[in-house]
Amino acid sequence: MKRDQSGGAAGCGAQCNEGRRAALKLCAGTVIGLVAAPKDSAFANEPNHARPQPGDRLVLADGSPVGTTPLGLDSVSVGDKPVFAYPVDPATGTVRDGSRLNRVVLIRLDPAALDERTRARAADGVLAYSAVCTHQGCDVTEYNPTENVLFCFCHFSKFKPAHGGEVVEGPAPRNLPMLPLRIEGGQLVVADTFTSRPGATL
Ligand code: FES
Repeated sequence: MKRDQSGGAAGCGAQCNEGRRAALKLCAGTVIGLVAAPKDSAFANEPNHARPQPGDRLVLADGSPVGTTPLGLDSVSVGDKPVFAYPVDPATGTVRDGSRLNRVVLIRLDPAALDERTRARAADGVLAYSAVCTHQGCDVTEYNPTENVLFCFCHFSKFKPAHGGEVVEGPAPRNLPMLPLRIEGGQLVVADTFTSRPGATL
């Protein structure tokens, strides 16, 4: 299964000190941002590379190989750490893991805490956002429940999941694209395409 070469963009571990992590990711983010778009377009016609489509299910992204069991509503609970997932075409079983731009971060919040537009794109409080920062394309790896923000540690951009992935701090020039979800038979189902283009802003 072909992957673009930008797929290894995982962030530092949580124990890294922030200064070291920032320096490392500054370099990594620059490289990722430069290579993601051309590599992605080179494989654009491959089934596992196509962007998420309405009706897709989601499977765990972390693991080798990636998961095969569709994620359900009970796969993500309020207060849990983020869960990372790839969409899968239910008709063919093709996991769309050929592009890191298809990787999404799932968190669950109280639906009452979401603004109206975000709530309409959530599945009973489960939210799916692109896991690729809109600044230079590093991975969005963390969720801080105190601030209620998703983090990119490369240059410390913060995104507000309860408000459509709005940028609230850092250099990211665009909100984090959201992948609308719905529930079907207890499973998380992609309801629509990304709200905007995932990936770095070039
Ligand atoms: S890549 Fe710079 S803040 Fe995310």
